[in-house]
Amino acid sequence: MELQHLLSGFDFNKRQTIMSPPVKILGIAGSLRQQSFNRAALRAAQTNVPAGVILTTFELDDIPLFNQDKEKELPLAVAQMKQAIREADAILFATAEYNYSISGVLKNAIDWASRPFGESAWKGKPAAIMGASPGLFGSARAQYHLRQVLVGLGMPTVNQPEIMIGSASERFDANGVLTDEKTNALIGKLLTSLVTLTLQLKATTS
Ligand SMILES: Cc1cc2nc3c(=O)[nH]c(=O)nc-3n(C[C@H](O)[C@H](O)[C@H](O)COP(=O)(O)O)c2cc1C
Repeated sequence: MELQHLLSGFDFNKRQTIMSPPVKILGIAGSLRQQSFNRAALRAAQTNVPAGVILTTFELDDIPLFNQDKEKELPLAVAQMKQAIREADAILFATAEYNYSISGVLKNAIDWASRPFGESAWKGKPAAIMGASPGLFGSARAQYHLRQVLVGLGMPTVNQPEIMIGSASERFDANGVLTDEKTNALIGKLLTSLVTLTLQLKATTS
């Protein structure tokens, strides 16, 4: 299908509804923490979606530790995660930074959904990355590690804008609402870039 036709159904400024089927984005946060800034960043993304986009989240709380002995008969939560990934048109990662890298929770989930060999749910799925940290760098180092992992998974990934939410405790309020307007606007731009990439890929494969 022509890219122009696919894009024509979308109003990134939310001025009109769309004729095209919605673009389904799955948000995954690399933290289990109740008050997680990264979970909060995904909630902020849900309030900034362009028209015609549905953003749901998959929580990693029930994903067990990866065990290659079990990859042929997946634990229920893992099977559900793989299904959610397969049903999504695109993935939005919100990564925490642990010791200059992504959290074990996120890497563990990524590993599960990449297996067994030849049955990865990630392959070809467009992705975007953002992240938050109370530190100054806003998970930048983790995001570059994640970007490298996504290369290995064969996931075309949005390059820009990069969203590193530093000093997170100053940008979210006590209820986990992203109050920083510039960051909200940037998340809107990231989602627009992700939708554009997703539609471009659809246009070249259909
Ligand atoms: C084990 C561990 C390692 C951490 N390492 C880093 C780090 O390298 N860089 C950083 O900016 N923050 C680091 N932090 C702080 C996290 O960014 C902070 O806990 C953040 O709130 C985690 O994301 P969340 O709010 O989504 O749970 C670390 C926290 C933990 C628990």
